[in-house]
Amino acid sequence: MRSHYCGQIDESFVDQEIELCGWVNRRRDHGGVIFVDLRDREGLVQVVFDPDRAEMFATAERIRNEYVLKLKGRVRLRDEAAFNPNLKTGKIEVLGLELTVLNAAETPPFQLDDEGVHEDIRLKYRYIDLRRDEMQQRMRMRSQITAFVRNYMESNGFWDIETPMLTKATPEGARDYLVPSRTHPGEFFALPQSPQIFKQLLMMSGMDRYYQIVRCFRDEDLRADRQPEFTQIDIETSFMDENEVMDITENMIRELFAHVLEEALPNPFPRMSHEEAMHRYGSDKPDLRIDMELVDIGDLMADVEFKVFAEPAKDPKGRLVVLRVPKGAELSRKEIDGYTEFVGRYGAKGLAWIKVNDVAAGREGLQSPIVKFLPDEALTAIIERTGTESGDLLFFGAGNAKVVNESIGALRVQVGHDRGMVSREWKPLWVVDFPMFEWNDRDNRWDALHHPFTSPNTEDPAELEANAGSMLSRAYDMVLNGCELGGGSVRIHNTDMQNKVFEVLGIGDEEARDKFGFLLDALKYGCPPHAGLAFGLDRMVMLMTGAGSIRDVMAFPKTQTAACPLTDAPAAVTPASLRDLNIRIHKPAK
Ligand code: AMO
Ligand code: AMP
Repeated sequence: MRSHYCGQIDESFVDQEIELCGWVNRRRDHGGVIFVDLRDREGLVQVVFDPDRAEMFATAERIRNEYVLKLKGRVRLRDEAAFNPNLKTGKIEVLGLELTVLNAAETPPFQLDDEGVHEDIRLKYRYIDLRRDEMQQRMRMRSQITAFVRNYMESNGFWDIETPMLTKATPEGARDYLVPSRTHPGEFFALPQSPQIFKQLLMMSGMDRYYQIVRCFRDEDLRADRQPEFTQIDIETSFMDENEVMDITENMIRELFAHVLEEALPNPFPRMSHEEAMHRYGSDKPDLRIDMELVDIGDLMADVEFKVFAEPAKDPKGRLVVLRVPKGAELSRKEIDGYTEFVGRYGAKGLAWIKVNDVAAGREGLQSPIVKFLPDEALTAIIERTGTESGDLLFFGAGNAKVVNESIGALRVQVGHDRGMVSREWKPLWVVDFPMFEWNDRDNRWDALHHPFTSPNTEDPAELEANAGSMLSRAYDMVLNGCELGGGSVRIHNTDMQNKVFEVLGIGDEEARDKFGFLLDALKYGCPPHAGLAFGLDRMVMLMTGAGSIRDVMAFPKTQTAACPLTDAPAAVTPASLRDLNIRIHKPAK
């Protein structure tokens, strides 16, 4: 139907006749002449209808925004005064010769250039929202990224193999989405949280190198970087150790950034132990663009009278840290109160602070509700250790180490963004040497920090059992600008070790057989050492496009409450469908 895309036409087409198809972005009447900005995926071009061609002109008078047109026209240069340097097509316009209205459009529920449209409305009319240039560019980059990844994987000998969507639960730490079985009354499939077990089985099948760009499903609390269904670039290899897997995947990311964004990432990516990341940043996914660190001062405070500090300083499970905010003394009381509320969301009981107005003036130079509780030596030591200068502000986090890490780790990032301290660069790193297990206080047992198929850093099941609390795993996460882009591990390939891990996790023999019997069996029939990793594709695209949320890089995402305003899913089903499935609904009382 067309000879070119609207956005391709430039001055090299002058005097040529072309045929275009697209949407009316805007129509303007100018003293007898009608201008239409015609839009398609590739951009906008200005079309002019002059009244000499009366019939066509009459049609042009009828058209409205978002009408779909087919147009034959002749390209001509604009007057220099009318050049638009922001458009590739800005030096030319197309004189309309023949016009067909392929379809009319009702007035859209929002204008495409309106910035303030509520996300629910955008999602309800997603097909209109996706017409916006910004969204089209994001979808384009997403496609470029997946094309690059496929190419890289294929040329490195990885095979794309599909794994089932209707399957059994794979534990990745979230709730499962369940699908009732009609043919097996009362039984359910689980949608995969990841293809983890299947990709391991593929290694046992001798496939050697596997990848899949695959949808995963997790029923968990949603945030800007989490969706109930999302896409992984899922990878598994045989006979590779952690360094080989990290090398080949890191190289893919570096080449991807060079190819798609023309950005050079460091080579190699720095590596940091989990312990160091928690210690310096309070986070296992540190944002290294922000030049602030947590500084421990527990040793300085064990004997002070101020209980808020002394207690965690003496408690082995406690932590006491300072976050120095350069030039933070200019923060208002209201801003500090805002941050106090912010850390409260992570469970912090307060946020002590000291404004250091004049570092040379001793106690007199400090402004704070807590300095009266602290001796001179302690104050001097804090200032020295943190390298504090006049005009800085010190925030203090005290309490249970987990709460302090989460709250002050998040505060660091928030303050960094608020105060323009985020450098404009790409800061990837590997976080390695994770603990194998994490103590779950509520249920009084060990949880796997990654998934239960991750290999501990020992070959000896007895050693694992004896040192469960201090055992490290052979897992690795790739972090980029404070976002966990991907994670993986060397897997357990030995039945005794797998059984021992289940045992430490409190998964009894019977439960293990019931849930993972097929995996335990497979381990017995010739399992190669294997390792792998999965990237979150949506997060990758979000970072690379600079979008604020992964919803903005998915064509049809869910809302924060895991619903779809476009289709109104999830929805009730007919009684007949429920009968077929042997399901009776018991609605919770309002
Ligand atoms: P993990 O659970 O770390 O590992 O997931 C891998 C990556 O997937 C992304 N991701 C998500 N993205 C959007 N929404 C979500 N709800 C979501 N959850 C996870 C993250 C994360 O780093 N089977 C293992 C991988 C392996 O060991 O090979 C796994 O799934 O970017
Ligand atoms: P309080 O003794 O509770 O009045 O607290 C005195 C100061 O210490 C206030 O500025 C609180 O915000 C701060 N504070 C209280 N608990 C904590 C905590 N766990 N971590 C950091 N600061 C705290």
